Amino acid sequence: MTIENAKKAAGRAAADLIKNDMIVGLGTGSTANYFIEALSFRVKQGLYLKAVVPSSKRSHDLAKSLGLPAQDINQVPYIDITVDGADEIDPLKRMIKGGGGAHVREKILAVNSREMVVIIDETKLVSKVGVGKLPVEILFFGSPATRNALEKKGYFGKWRLNEDGSFFITENTNLTYDVVFDTPPLYPEQVHEEMIHIPGVIDTGFFFDIAGRVVVGYFDGHFEIQ
Ligand code: 5RP
Repeated sequence: MTIENAKKAAGRAAADLIKNDMIVGLGTGSTANYFIEALSFRVKQGLYLKAVVPSSKRSHDLAKSLGLPAQDINQVPYIDITVDGADEIDPLKRMIKGGGGAHVREKILAVNSREMVVIIDETKLVSKVGVGKLPVEILFFGSPATRNALEKKGYFGKWRLNEDGSFFITENTNLTYDVVFDTPPLYPEQVHEEMIHIPGVIDTGFFFDIAGRVVVGYFDGHFEIQ
């Protein structure tokens, strides 16, 4: 009865959705890692994949180490399905992602896929997104000014730091400003819209109208597909 059981259940169930000849986008994070491992197991059992397209160096390295045919997004003509985790998802399948610092690449993969399958443990289900932090990826150039602009609009948070106090650097070598809301926003789409037009903001961790099937893993090891 652990969270790892739940993540593993979601990752394995998603691997069973993959069919022969597919090109598969790989998300980033601990749940995505379980999916990548389960996918490689299926490949060893005879599943044929045209390619996998990782969203981060971490997922790329794991996929390669497990013998999966990793390719760059620019080398593939299309992506059938991308499987990725999330930090929060609400009943309308609006999500927050970016806990692992790869949400910009993850969004590019997801919107360029025929389907994004979301894999989560049960703790990620929320009634409204914005309970936890919202990762906002910010260009290093002018980053204090970009932060000021966010704060002027009422969005306060913290630069994401590594354990040693250095700045956390995203997959795209940018910074992350983790915004914290007093209460989850009533209209998260408006918040995204307001933030995205500030010069220096690369993207927010909000994902709207992107999620397809959602595979939820539970602590007791069972899963549901929504
Ligand atoms: C990485 C992400 C992850 O998918 C998200 O943080 C969930 O991670 P985990 O599966 O480890 O809980 O968005 O940028």
